Amino acid sequence: MPVSLVILAAGLGSRMNSDLPKVLHPLAGAPLLAHAMRAGAELEPDRVVVVTGHGGERVASAARAENPEARIAHQAEQLGTAHAVAQARPALADFSGDIVVLYGDTPFIRPETLAAMLEARERHAICVLGFEARDPGRYGRLVMSGDRLDRIVEHADATDEERAIRLCNSGVLCADSTLLFDLIGAVGNANAKGEYYLTDIVAIAHARGLSTGVVTCPEAETLGINTRAELAAAETAFQARARAEALGNGVTMTAPETVFLALDTVIGRDAVIGPNVVFGPGVTVESGAEILAFCHLEGCHISRGAVVGPFARLRPGAELAEDVRVGNFVEVKNAILDEGAKVNHLSYIGDAHVGERANVGAGTVTCNYDGVMKHRTEIGARAFIGSDTMLVAPVRVGADAMTGSGSVISEDVPDGALAIGRARQEVKPGLALRLMARLRAARERKG
Ligand code: UD1
Ligand code: CA
Repeated sequence: MPVSLVILAAGLGSRMNSDLPKVLHPLAGAPLLAHAMRAGAELEPDRVVVVTGHGGERVASAARAENPEARIAHQAEQLGTAHAVAQARPALADFSGDIVVLYGDTPFIRPETLAAMLEARERHAICVLGFEARDPGRYGRLVMSGDRLDRIVEHADATDEERAIRLCNSGVLCADSTLLFDLIGAVGNANAKGEYYLTDIVAIAHARGLSTGVVTCPEAETLGINTRAELAAAETAFQARARAEALGNGVTMTAPETVFLALDTVIGRDAVIGPNVVFGPGVTVESGAEILAFCHLEGCHISRGAVVGPFARLRPGAELAEDVRVGNFVEVKNAILDEGAKVNHLSYIGDAHVGERANVGAGTVTCNYDGVMKHRTEIGARAFIGSDTMLVAPVRVGADAMTGSGSVISEDVPDGALAIGRARQEVKPGLALRLMARLRAARERKG
């Protein structure tokens, strides 16, 4: 049965106290919305419709960044969850199959749970994801008759007796598309909040003699983010799980509690990660690579046998081939370092290609930016860049070439050549002693 997703992301999330729409707040380096989209993507949906409202364009572009084929439905006024799902109807007009409704602010739903819901859907017209809440608070309550779900009552509309129910509504549900939009058409807004509640479709279905089932999951999975404190707690929970997973996958971490991983971090078996390493989005580390303490990595690839850090920063587009060395206080951005290349100390390598086994001396800078445009630096295989060389891009240093320490290299250096671009040294015999004597005498005179 084909499946489509509708992801609700229209809310402002006023309790975040932020100008940023709630679903764009980052968790593990990715917006909350991306987490929900990624879990849903495992169902291989036919279509993904994201319902935007507050911060519409920004939310839409985050959705497209995660899935370029995502369709956007705009909900101009937030009149309730049923009204939100109804906005997705045009984008799904010629779709028939199951629809899974997810919330953009609920990042921890596991794909396995969604798969279990689709399976339960085979026995029920509607399947709702519920959980036993430790503190049911303001969640909607699932009113059961035996193992059948009769209806969902929102906290604001519930009696004391209903509020005592601990089985709560996660908000995730699944139904056939034609039925879902049909039932939503019958939802009214005569309730405590004056909203069109999606949850009302359960009672309506029930009145029509349709069966409704519940799949349950641990509360941690349905955790919704409403405040900064909840976001911080979610980050902690994510990191604990991601670290345990990495250790389980055979990654060595000497102080895992100080390592921060991103949603899409990939680290191979027997890689070694030192203390206080931060992974931004888009990092892959191959088996057996080593990341020493205090590195910050983002959008980069580190191959087998490479050693990075301590205190290195790899920015987007840094590609390190096998056995590369990037040492302390080195920044690499949008640069390919071929096999065995070394940049060991205090350097900036940006918009560059460093050939295999080239050695880049301490303090080297690729001067890639002229104030308006970025330019490339090419360093050939086995080249030796003297310490404190300024490579004024665009510039090319050939294979097996050398630059003298302290050179400003603004013209290409042919293969095998040595280039020196610095003031010639002059030596004045005895001048140091004479100069010191003069200075001391001057001090005496002053008293
Ligand atoms: C909803 C459920 C409740 C459930 C809880 C779980 C309803 C009526 N209630 O309540 O049973 O226990 O979630 O967290 O469905 N949204 C829109 N447009 C709208 C309204 C909401 O896109 O017009 C989005 C919000 O951005 C949010 C989600 O839908 O991501 C849930 O909305 P919210 O207002 O937070 O619903 P709750 O009152 O928490
Ligand atoms: Ca909510």
